[in-house]
Amino acid sequence: MSQSHDPLSNLESFSPPGQPAMLSHIGIYTSGGDSPGMNAAIRAVTRTALHHKIKVSGILHGYRGLLNMEMKSLEPGDMGNILQRGGTILRTARVPEFKDAPIRAKAAANVRAAGLDALICIGGDGSFTGARLLWQEHRIPIIGLPATIDNDIAGTESTIGFDTAVNTALDAIDRIRETADSHERLFIVEVMGRDTGFIAIETGLAGGAEEVFFAESHVTVEQAIDGVRRGMARGKRSSILITAEGKKPGRAYDLAEQIRKKAGWDAKVCILGHIQRGGAPSAFDRNLASRMGAAAVEALRRGYCDAMMSWTRGRIDAVPLKDVIGRHKRVPEELIKLARILAT
Ligand code: ADP
Ligand code: F6P
Repeated sequence: MSQSHDPLSNLESFSPPGQPAMLSHIGIYTSGGDSPGMNAAIRAVTRTALHHKIKVSGILHGYRGLLNMEMKSLEPGDMGNILQRGGTILRTARVPEFKDAPIRAKAAANVRAAGLDALICIGGDGSFTGARLLWQEHRIPIIGLPATIDNDIAGTESTIGFDTAVNTALDAIDRIRETADSHERLFIVEVMGRDTGFIAIETGLAGGAEEVFFAESHVTVEQAIDGVRRGMARGKRSSILITAEGKKPGRAYDLAEQIRKKAGWDAKVCILGHIQRGGAPSAFDRNLASRMGAAAVEALRRGYCDAMMSWTRGRIDAVPLKDVIGRHKRVPEELIKLARILAT
């Protein structure tokens, strides 16, 4: 974290679609999977808005709260002691019916009834899709804050929660390495990442894994076995393979079975699962969330909407949601190559 401390200074990548807005009351919600740092973002939005005499309502349970009018006024006192806490004080939910236009019309009517001038949505690609539809169909100004441990949101180098999740997984891998070394064992560690391998590759690189499995790494079981054999030949006492869970958790067991059949080795499996979603946010995630949250309020005041705050080359910026939603962010090829070179 470095560079400018002025949340306004980098809002330069596109022109605000609206005029500078006279905001008196905004709503904020968290939606989809939670991630460490969401509370830091809620705090930054609330404190920045209150600083500008803008009222803030916290909408509970994501889109469900918009539909059921579950809202509460956020006061300065509510923001105490949450910066360091994982999860989200606003709770979160998945609300499949939000894909239906009449349901969204009901939510929009509730936004108007509550007197909200704009919304700040903390979530991922799905949550932003719903938010963008509220802007397109009902002209409700919206700014997104990217928050997911998967880091699978286009337009930003990092999402709120990703750094913490990588550190949590890495801590587990370091511990596993110790017992693996003592027993001279092969472990397969499964990390989260439904559609992407960002957690897998970063923990693999930082944890010295022999191989990292995820869709774009294109590694075969045979290649992984060869890598482990090479390590053993030069005296390595333990090996760790990392796999992203992919579509269905439990992929590590399939890999272990294939390795048993092909090499005759008994690989131990450890699935980290939701442990990666909890815990105190790292310093990076707290700062990222704080800066993005403050910038989101400033962006709304300047007339930005239909946009997401982003983190690119050390700067907070705004990118149009149309350039974010539905784009597949890929793990850079160089990282995959580097992890392989360093493991040999
Ligand atoms: P994330 O925001 O982390 O990607 P989800 O994909 O689970 O998480 O989406 C969170 C919520 O966003 C969904 O439960 C739903 O309420 C809303 N949402 C997702 N996709 C759409 C869509 N295509 N249209 C409208 N709302 C959507
Ligand atoms: O937050 C993203 C993610 O952790 C994915 O990696 C994972 O597949 C998914 O959420 C699981 O979330 P849930 O158990 O809440 O459905």
